[in-house]
Amino acid sequence: MIDPAAFVRWFRGALPYIHAHRGRTFVIHFGGEAVADEPRFASLVHDIALLHGLGIRLVLVPGIRPQIEARLQQRGIACRYHRGQRITDAAALECVKEAAGQVRVEIEARLSLGVADSPMAGMRLPVVSGNFITAKPLGVIDGIDFQYTGEVRRVDAPGIQALLAQERLVLIPPLGYSPTGEVFNLRAEAVATAVATALRADKFLILMEQPCRLDDEPVAQLTSSEARTHLHRKRFPAPVASHVEAAVTAVEGGVERAHLLDRHLDGALLLELFTRDGAGTLISRQPFESLRPARLDDIPGILELIAPLEREGVLVKRSREKLETDLADYCVIERDGLVIGCAALHAFPEVKMGELACLALHPDYRGENRGQRLLEHIEDRARRQGLERLFVLTTRTLHWFRERGFQPATFADLPVQRQRCYNAQRNSKVLIKCL
Ligand SMILES: CC(C)(COP(=O)(O)OP(=O)(O)OC[C@H]1O[C@@H](n2cnc3c(N)ncnc32)[C@H](O)[C@@H]1OP(=O)(O)O)[C@@H](O)C(=O)NCCC(=O)NCCS
Repeated sequence: MIDPAAFVRWFRGALPYIHAHRGRTFVIHFGGEAVADEPRFASLVHDIALLHGLGIRLVLVPGIRPQIEARLQQRGIACRYHRGQRITDAAALECVKEAAGQVRVEIEARLSLGVADSPMAGMRLPVVSGNFITAKPLGVIDGIDFQYTGEVRRVDAPGIQALLAQERLVLIPPLGYSPTGEVFNLRAEAVATAVATALRADKFLILMEQPCRLDDEPVAQLTSSEARTHLHRKRFPAPVASHVEAAVTAVEGGVERAHLLDRHLDGALLLELFTRDGAGTLISRQPFESLRPARLDDIPGILELIAPLEREGVLVKRSREKLETDLADYCVIERDGLVIGCAALHAFPEVKMGELACLALHPDYRGENRGQRLLEHIEDRARRQGLERLFVLTTRTLHWFRERGFQPATFADLPVQRQRCYNAQRNSKVLIKCL
């Protein structure tokens, strides 16, 4: 029995994430083990369908290793590896092609499921595969000819993007084609990394066979340079290390964020993408959270953040137009793509004063010094602009400012220009701090 209050709370909490992810491009990679694992795979496809339904552009890159292995075994062909990479001769290539076909068909069938009593009733996702990957042979290494084992030479990013723009879900098996008309067996993770990089994807999600652990401890977030250092020191278990390597390569290649998830956790994708704490390990180039000047695409996030405070009368109402005009005055704290804090500095250079305005933190992130950091940032900005005093008008946050060096002042202390648009009804207190 679902708890209605918890459901409503959760759904409302997911809204900023839904908003932030819409229209973004995510590349999802999972191994052939995931495809073979029913009924878990049905749940994963269900979650993928949900993401598609929320307007996220999706590219799926499945692995096919167990499916290849099963075929080789059936035919009594020995698996040959060198340096962890399969040597694909003509007979093995047949198995690779069959395995790729099987996995593709299975995923397409799952995504087509739309009968009334299934969780995907009425969904029927349009899915497209194609020759998006140009490959070249890996060649001869240590005297060993890898034959039909190849590596990615080029990704047809415009072709993929055109399909994503038509709301198609793109499925890319780990095969590549050469201009000479040959087919090559590629490492699925390398294909996924190349695709995520070529598309400059917003997220690269890797569903792994185990959770990401660092020295046997779960780890929620790393910058790509921290992850590199840990890789050098061999602090990830072997199977995880190659996934971390792929994630770091993608992030260094321009992908916004890579997420490593344990696919055995039911709903791992949803937990990672729609909850505050996520469920896996995030790897990003920039630290997970940053304080920076506001950009145009932050405006929806800022409006969402301040709307409840405007309703409560804590902040004055600002229109989107006003925000756009004054955007250069604003800074934000961004955390994993969400605006969780903001503040503005409106300068009155003729009297060397500045107004600290629109200081707000998302309720989930208060009490951890972020308000203080925003204040210090605005103070620095003001000093750099040659301002000598900072004022603030507040109705409910008097003491917060008093405790941070602001002194009570009067209406007459405000710049004349500001006095003209003072809203007497709000009866805000005036506070001033000398910088
Ligand atoms: C005011 C605000 C920006 C502070 O952000 P924050 O990240 O929580 O701030 P910090 O972590 O730096 O400081 C937290 C401290 O401030 C205190 N504090 C929070 N709001 C306060 C208020 N309205 N009055 C007095 N103290 C307050 C907290 O109790 C805490 O102190 P404690 O640790 O001694 O209990 C945040 O609470 C907020 O967004 N409030 C709603 C919007 C608002 O009032 N903006 C100012 C408009 S002029």
